[in-house]
Amino acid sequence: MADIEVTSPADSIRAVQWEGGQIRLLDQRKLPGETAYINIHQVEVLAQAITDMVVRGAPAIGIAAAYGVVLAARTAYQNDSNRWQEKIKPDLIMLAAARPTAVNLQWAIARMGRLFPAIIGNPEAPLLKEAIAIHEEDILANRKMGMFGAELIKGAGQVMTHCNAGSLATGGYGTALGVIRSAFAQGSINRVFACETRPWLQGARLTSWELQQDRIPVTLIVDSSASYLMQNRQIRWVIVGADRIAANGDVANKIGTYAHAVAARHHRIGFMVVAPASSIDMKIASGADIMIENRDAREITEYAGRAVAPDGVDAWNPAFDITPAALIDYLVTEKGVIHQPDKVKMAAIFENLS
Ligand code: MRU
Repeated sequence: MADIEVTSPADSIRAVQWEGGQIRLLDQRKLPGETAYINIHQVEVLAQAITDMVVRGAPAIGIAAAYGVVLAARTAYQNDSNRWQEKIKPDLIMLAAARPTAVNLQWAIARMGRLFPAIIGNPEAPLLKEAIAIHEEDILANRKMGMFGAELIKGAGQVMTHCNAGSLATGGYGTALGVIRSAFAQGSINRVFACETRPWLQGARLTSWELQQDRIPVTLIVDSSASYLMQNRQIRWVIVGADRIAANGDVANKIGTYAHAVAARHHRIGFMVVAPASSIDMKIASGADIMIENRDAREITEYAGRAVAPDGVDAWNPAFDITPAALIDYLVTEKGVIHQPDKVKMAAIFENLS
């Protein structure tokens, strides 16, 4: 990767890297206690790592998948240099199914696939070049969104975020945390309330860790205290990321986001979604058509391997929810900012998106 200027300690975090012909993933299941990396050179191992949340966050999953296409193409070419484009297909289908909600996964695989017809000979070098471009473009998009978002929240003081939409969830710098980083650097933010984000605790384990690295004051709260925080007027903005945005502006993001948006509207607090164009899916008319990942019930019936619910209890564990566009004040993307997103405003910017 080309050197992109690093602006803060947490901005130097790279959840996904390409090193020595392999993918190197920071194992996010182990943070904040342990900083461990996993090297991957087989696409099926990568698909499992995405399902298991070694790497998570929509843009980071997309970048990992782009490098995964390089691994898959290498194997397919080694097995049959004349028919590698045919042989690679089952691997790409498997990779695309590793997590269903974040569109960045399918988007990255499709973008890599568009290169195939023009490739003559060994595909590894041209595909790697494209994967690196996807990675670098993501970081630059985050920088741009950081600037756009910070402009909107001048003098915000205290803000709240949910899940982790930071360096760890992207190529680097972050989406929602990118805006927070930029606004903090400008003196507009002095404290971030981070929702713990049950059941995976991305807020407790990852967001508070990232913000601590950058010395941005952070207060951790349980998810259920968010509306009480808003009622007490302690925050001015809720700033979150997205996993998929439909053509009408409806947003799929980490479970709990919708509840925060409802509460924010009730308390007249600004609600901002920050996401790159790679998270926008103009083929999906509304949030109702977005597939929501349901994860293993044990993520909520157990805590750190210990049962916290009675044996055999029924449990429902959707990993994401849909926030209707009508509850979103600003959608910040690298292509532009939309105030009160709807179908017409979305089409004006993203109609020809591929
Ligand atoms: O289940 P996760 O941790 O992959 O969910 C992540 C989120 O919901 C993020 O808010 C979203 O992917 C945006 S990350 C820039």
